[in-house]
Amino acid sequence: MSQAQEYILGTSLTEQKRLLKQGTLFEAEACWLLDQVGLQAGARAIDLGCGPLGILHLLAERVGSTGEVVGVDREARLLDMARTIVADRRLPNVELFKRDVTATGLPRAAFDLVHERLVLMMTPHTKQMLAEMVALTRPGGVVAVQDLDVVSHICEPEHAAWLQLLTTYHRVYQARGLDGYLGRRLPGLLRAAGLVEVQVKVHTQVSHVGEFGQTLFLDIIEGLRDHIIADGLHIPDELTALVEALREHLNTPGTLVVQPLLFQVWGRKPV
Ligand SMILES: C[S@@+](CC[C@H](N)C(=O)[O-])C[C@H]1O[C@@H](n2cnc3c(N)ncnc32)[C@H](O)[C@@H]1O
Repeated sequence: MSQAQEYILGTSLTEQKRLLKQGTLFEAEACWLLDQVGLQAGARAIDLGCGPLGILHLLAERVGSTGEVVGVDREARLLDMARTIVADRRLPNVELFKRDVTATGLPRAAFDLVHERLVLMMTPHTKQMLAEMVALTRPGGVVAVQDLDVVSHICEPEHAAWLQLLTTYHRVYQARGLDGYLGRRLPGLLRAAGLVEVQVKVHTQVSHVGEFGQTLFLDIIEGLRDHIIADGLHIPDELTALVEALREHLNTPGTLVVQPLLFQVWGRKPV
């Protein structure tokens, strides 16, 4: 098994824009989560693996001018976009750091909320990242995570290209030590990391023709294209034919897509 050393979907402008649109797709759920954890004005919050924005803007809004928000990512190009967006949106209380989420080097026990979205499922070092999240949290503070479990990811009517590309997606992930079904394991992982009062909420969404979510899976497959070819899972022409066949199906009126489950799991660091 090779271990993912770089963000598997790359840092192209296409991927940056995809992450921003995906963030919008999950924004209502993120606001719901922040309501549950009760982030207060004046608090310190951190978004690990924030990419080009993550939930930095939502955190900044809640902690207000007396609070502080930190964003961390390993990819310089994604952080450059985050810097631009933070400046454009005039979020003066947001600071960005280029660090690895498994060892940030940031002050210990310093944050009221330590958050990540779709990062644990992008690293084979799940336990190390969770340990770092707990270490960054002040006693009594909250660790909150949001990751997917693709168990619910279906299209209706079913299509052979969907099933084949889903298998391909899992193979690419597995070869890099990543788990597309991570969501269901999160409550146990948070408890094992020493958190208490661990709570869970699961969301999903249905997409229809013309909506971003309808072809999101194809965007991800395109993002994985080089890995798929390098791993010998499809030759380029075959992959293109599968993607085109599925795109036609997903763009056919009446085809619906159920998104993966978004697991939100949060717990408190004991005092
Ligand atoms: C799927 S994106 C999610 C971005 C953002 N959290 C969001 O919800 O839009 C995963 C992010 O995790 C970052 N990442 C993955 N592994 C990392 C690591 N070991 N250290 C720092 N960042 C990492 C990637 O660079 C990427 O920005």
